[in-house]
Amino acid sequence: MVLPHSMPLVPLPASSIAVDGRLPVSDGLRVIGDSPAAAQLIDAVARRSGIRLSHSTDSDGAGDGVASTIVLRIDPTTAPEGYGLTVGDSVEIVGGDEAGLFYGMQTLLQLLREDDEGWAFLRAEITDAPRFARRGVMLDVTRHFFDVDEVKKFIDSTSALKFNHLHLHLSDDQGWRIQIDSWPKLTELASSTASLGDPGGFYTKDDYREIVAYAAERHMVVIPEIDLPGHTHAIGVAYPELVEDPVMNDSLIAESARLGQPLPVAGEPYLGWGVGHSSVRIHEERTYEFVRDVVRELAEMTPGPYIHIGGDESLGTPQADFDLFVERATAIVFEEGKIPVAWHEVGAAKDIAEGTIGQYWGKTTPEGSHAEEAAHFVERGGALIMSTADVAYLDMKYTEDFPLGLTWAAIIDVRRAYEWEPTAVLDVPESAILGIEAPLWSETTRTLSEVEQLVFPRAAAQAEVAWSPHDADGRDWESFRERLGALAPLWKAEGVDFHPADEIPWSER
Ligand code: ACM
Repeated sequence: MVLPHSMPLVPLPASSIAVDGRLPVSDGLRVIGDSPAAAQLIDAVARRSGIRLSHSTDSDGAGDGVASTIVLRIDPTTAPEGYGLTVGDSVEIVGGDEAGLFYGMQTLLQLLREDDEGWAFLRAEITDAPRFARRGVMLDVTRHFFDVDEVKKFIDSTSALKFNHLHLHLSDDQGWRIQIDSWPKLTELASSTASLGDPGGFYTKDDYREIVAYAAERHMVVIPEIDLPGHTHAIGVAYPELVEDPVMNDSLIAESARLGQPLPVAGEPYLGWGVGHSSVRIHEERTYEFVRDVVRELAEMTPGPYIHIGGDESLGTPQADFDLFVERATAIVFEEGKIPVAWHEVGAAKDIAEGTIGQYWGKTTPEGSHAEEAAHFVERGGALIMSTADVAYLDMKYTEDFPLGLTWAAIIDVRRAYEWEPTAVLDVPESAILGIEAPLWSETTRTLSEVEQLVFPRAAAQAEVAWSPHDADGRDWESFRERLGALAPLWKAEGVDFHPADEIPWSER
């Protein structure tokens, strides 16, 4: 028998036994089941191996020419998102729900290997379910824009690691990226540029719905973010009456000079990536009409329960104004039928709407008032998502000299990304931690390939932090780096441009 954690699986399953041997993969293997995961499995095996498995939606689909079967079925007594997977002389995946079948299918794909005798599934017995219900990634489409097909590829590669939420950062100083019918100038006037003077773009409502549907087919909930009241320079390009004149801060001036980037000018597109200079007008009722219209239109096309209202780095907004604004904005989201999510600074406001979810982006050792701000969401009946910046931010450099990424939170090698515990950062009950989200900010990434170099392999580390039991046998760095190395052939087959970090023993096949 092989040690359980020597199987090439990331995230590590809750419980797994490797069985000696292999199940050969040929077109005589038939997939049986009417779940969408059956068709997704057949397509993925074909992309990887060139072998197209046959398919029957009928439970007695075994018949002539069928060497063996892969049966997919649902058993509601299995945990939500959980599954059992047995690979012996045949394969059975039993999901607690469709998401469980999808995750069991992803695990089976990781057991697909090519050896000297050809393609085969490694034999195994696995029982699995997630540690945290919330396993998120974020893509910033404002500093650089990524089109629908690029977002779909991002969904494919992250859902394969069992991430189940996709947060889209849709508005920032550099651009507005989503069609809003009641405020058409947002996309007409404030979407065409991006950081570094690169071209921008935006999603039509149909584009957005297409992304949401594609994500849902891969069991990911889309969380749209409109960042307010700061990070709003682009709104002022479209509707100057909604936004204050830029307020410079020392760090913005110094960083802009160091990077040779322009300072923000009211009403003109902002091409740099300094922060903290913009604010909507807090004391104008028109601002709240704007917020309500945007939230309502987003809510109409977002089946998921959340709308993110930002709230980070409003450095030029007086604290009393900030508090007033976020109290009203969180209430508006509830009034429009959704649950607000906000960056942890919003917890500084005493009367945020009860039940608002906070997103902590401070460090593993909280600085200043970050911990108190985060805890206030819990005091108000909400809960927290951990995006601890010095371990979980995907846009930090791996090494000092890595060509992409920033360094303000930390240099994050793969080991650092892996070795953190989401419940140990803040002094709140464990039950208040919904899970984690790993954000990719796109200041330095001009293409999806550059995004992927920052995201992979570190997203796999975050996937394991979010999914795998903390105390499972093999839930440690030495095991993880071996298992992670085994993902290389899958990522190559799917065209994922991962960074081959030299901490990891990458396998060829
Ligand atoms: C953030 O990184 N400004 C949330």
